[in-house]
Amino acid sequence: MSDTTYNPIKVALKVDKRYSWCTCSFSSEQPFCDGSHRANNATPPMVFEVKEDREAWMCTCKKTSNPPYCDGSHKL
Ligand code: FES
Repeated sequence: MSDTTYNPIKVALKVDKRYSWCTCSFSSEQPFCDGSHRANNATPPMVFEVKEDREAWMCTCKKTSNPPYCDGSHKL
């Protein structure tokens, strides 16, 4: 499997929301959780918030060292 098939997704994050970043790769709503981990007995999402409205590149390869954000690991 080539990691280049998993490119980050740019998302506008809002300070007043809680987000669930998919950690298992089964979600069809990448980079966010759609509940598919339950049916696949996989890892639950990482829930996070932001301190200010911002745009961010979200990891979809699940190899980042700085979850939920892309750190360039998909290129390795
Ligand atoms: S998509 Fe870039 S590190 Fe995962």
